[in-house]
Amino acid sequence: MATHLITGGAGFIGSHLADYLLGRGERVIVIDNLSTGRFSNIEHLEGRSGFECVIDDVRNEHLLDELIRRADRVFHLAASVGVRLIIERQTESLINNILGTERVLRSASRYRKSVLITSTSEVYGKSQKPVFSESDDRIMGPTDKARWGYASSKATDEFLALAHYQESKLPVVVVRLFNTVGPRQTGRYGMVIPNFVAQALKAQPLSVFGDGTQTRCFAHVHDVVPALVELMNRPAAYGKVFNIGSNEEISINQLAERVIQKAGSNSAITYVPYEAAYPPGFEDMERRVPDLRRIGDVIGYRPRKTLDDILADVVEEQRRHLQAEPNAGAAG
Ligand SMILES: NC(=O)c1ccc[n+]([C@@H]2O[C@H](COP(=O)([O-])OP(=O)(O)OC[C@H]3O[C@@H](n4cnc5c(N)ncnc54)[C@H](O)[C@@H]3O)[C@@H](O)[C@H]2O)c1
Repeated sequence: MATHLITGGAGFIGSHLADYLLGRGERVIVIDNLSTGRFSNIEHLEGRSGFECVIDDVRNEHLLDELIRRADRVFHLAASVGVRLIIERQTESLINNILGTERVLRSASRYRKSVLITSTSEVYGKSQKPVFSESDDRIMGPTDKARWGYASSKATDEFLALAHYQESKLPVVVVRLFNTVGPRQTGRYGMVIPNFVAQALKAQPLSVFGDGTQTRCFAHVHDVVPALVELMNRPAAYGKVFNIGSNEEISINQLAERVIQKAGSNSAITYVPYEAAYPPGFEDMERRVPDLRRIGDVIGYRPRKTLDDILADVVEEQRRHLQAEPNAGAAG
């Protein structure tokens, strides 16, 4: 039985990872400052044997060092997540993402603990390739457009992690998560599926940004979480970067229609120009499809859950929330 430290463990993905590891009889320590995470995500784990939760910040160096000393492995998920949050709180988000990762890697290096770093498909930037492969060139926008700060902070995290591997063979795995969705994801920071589902269940119009022809691929968190654990089990994964996601592509217009249908709603669709939702000059990516061959070769990963499975789970969760609290927003 190993001890796994999950930074950001009260967040959406981190709390599912905690459930998964505890379900396999492992020990879990969560550290989370509850900036975007919620205690309710892990409340059901309180008092469970093998589970410990510390509400604090990963930039609290001494505490983090002690937790990493006690752990066998570190899953580093704590971050200021998503383009919208980075735009709204630029300095705090950049520092959080870069300094948090530096501290995690420094302590992991001191105690020689394996670390998984969660990066993002955003690091591919404006690349127009039909499918993104891990060794592709990245195409970034200018530094005076804050939206590129998220991708750049995560790319810096990747460089730091890989430098530790190259210089001292610290066992690190870098994953680039593509859109990951499922129960507990909050719509507060602009994530499209929880927002669409909340609007559909309340019979409000679904707000599509831009013209809705942009496409995305959505992976179920229940497919993503086991892949994180499996990668950490494979020394062949150390020092490498892996895309994780789904390659089932759908346009945002089709997604809106699918959500309306799955929620049994009669909502309309409204179009919100990017200028109204984001600062001037905001750019969105037309497509973002992962090449999954590398992770397929190393751990045999392939997404099992479909978009319909995802929507069924999110609709079911939000329906329950609405019945319990009829005036609540999108799952948080
Ligand atoms: N969900 C996705 O589609 C997606 C896509 C790409 C990358 N990622 C990455 O996956 C990771 C998890 O994302 P998520 O979707 O679960 O988001 P989330 O916001 O639910 O989780 C992040 C957690 O980190 C915590 N946190 C932030 N800063 C912290 C700090 N300094 N100290 C302690 N805790 C801190 C937050 O409170 C939150 O619980 C992030 O690193 C994110 O960048 C997620």
